[in-house]
Amino acid sequence: MSRMRALLIGAGGFGSAWVNTFLPALNDRIVVTGLVDINPETLKRAGDALGLPDDQRFVDMANGFARAEADFCIVVVQPFLRLEAVRLAIAHGLPVLAEKPLAESWDTGLEILRLTRKADLKMAVVQNYRYTRRVRTLKRVLDDATLGRVNFITARFAADYTIENAGGAFRHQIPYAMAYEGAVHHLDQLRNLSGAEAATVSGYQWNPAWTTFSNDTTLMLLIRMANGVVCQYENNHLARGTQNGWHEEAYRVECEHGSVTLDGDHVVRLHEHLGKGRMRTTDVEPVPTEYDGHLGVIVDFLGWLEGGPTPPTAIEDNIWTMGLTFAAIDAVQTSMTVDVAAKTTTGLDSIALPD
Ligand SMILES: NC(=O)c1ccc[n+]([C@@H]2O[C@H](COP(=O)([O-])OP(=O)(O)OC[C@H]3O[C@@H](n4cnc5c(N)ncnc54)[C@H](O)[C@@H]3O)[C@@H](O)[C@H]2O)c1
Repeated sequence: MSRMRALLIGAGGFGSAWVNTFLPALNDRIVVTGLVDINPETLKRAGDALGLPDDQRFVDMANGFARAEADFCIVVVQPFLRLEAVRLAIAHGLPVLAEKPLAESWDTGLEILRLTRKADLKMAVVQNYRYTRRVRTLKRVLDDATLGRVNFITARFAADYTIENAGGAFRHQIPYAMAYEGAVHHLDQLRNLSGAEAATVSGYQWNPAWTTFSNDTTLMLLIRMANGVVCQYENNHLARGTQNGWHEEAYRVECEHGSVTLDGDHVVRLHEHLGKGRMRTTDVEPVPTEYDGHLGVIVDFLGWLEGGPTPPTAIEDNIWTMGLTFAAIDAVQTSMTVDVAAKTTTGLDSIALPD
């Protein structure tokens, strides 16, 4: 199998995980033929790690797209740069694998979808949390209806952050970045686990008096899915007690015949109702996975480019995660229940291409 040539945009922050972990793990499938970062020091560090010659390193995105010989691009810059990157990718006919979120606003997300549809360009968004072994194991229990039908789902992200240790400075200066930068992972997950689109969302976002952040740090949402499953979501950047940080999120799914839990220890547990107040708890054998998290997203994306099935994180699906995310922001801004389905379909109607 010949290797796909990739242009990587953004090599600092999380880009370094691409440079040092994800891409080396798939070097039988991908060869980086171009690297862009506006920061010369970051560019040098990442370029050296990848062993790239100088003529494949660029500080300017437009120059990188113009000069690199690539089959697709990987976009790991901040969300507000996504539209610029996608416009360039379209101009050069390069399919896009972009880090989440699709965009920093609902309107920009729709514009990116409109442009990629018009150009008939493949684009997917990295929603790696769907692809982790722990979540795939939980999802299989739900898909198999091991404990019958689902009633409701609780989801918890809770991290002991201060402004000094939280990382990703840009996220803590922008209103609602906690929702579209962080919660977007979990909102996508709730679509995945419930197997349905969101119908309505309501909630609150606030910043307690003892915070060290200037933007809000705590978010609570109630989401009703189109299939009747209700989701309760907690996102707390000031968790001074029990922790459920990144990749250690807790989920509890209340079902007809018991509940299924997943906590920071990564074990999916069945709590089966046996009648007369008795319950049996069993650990679920993790599902076998060849490619976990990011690697799974990347391999599915490459398969799509090679003519395989559309991955679950393709932009046409991901726009529904965006619809939910920005409806949640509307909800916390207005303290009203927001009709997610109406927001999303109205947005999609507004960008429908003429027949
Ligand atoms: N999927 C995940 O688990 C996960 C985890 C962390 C971050 N992310 C996502 O990755 C993206 C990047 O986040 P980050 O934390 O790495 O941000 P960051 O600010 O740390 O890094 C962004 C990089 O882009 C470079 N850059 C800025 N402007 C540029 C431009 N015009 N042209 C080229 N390069 C430019 C910067 O120099 C920097 O190296 C975000 O969308 C974030 O949500 C995803």
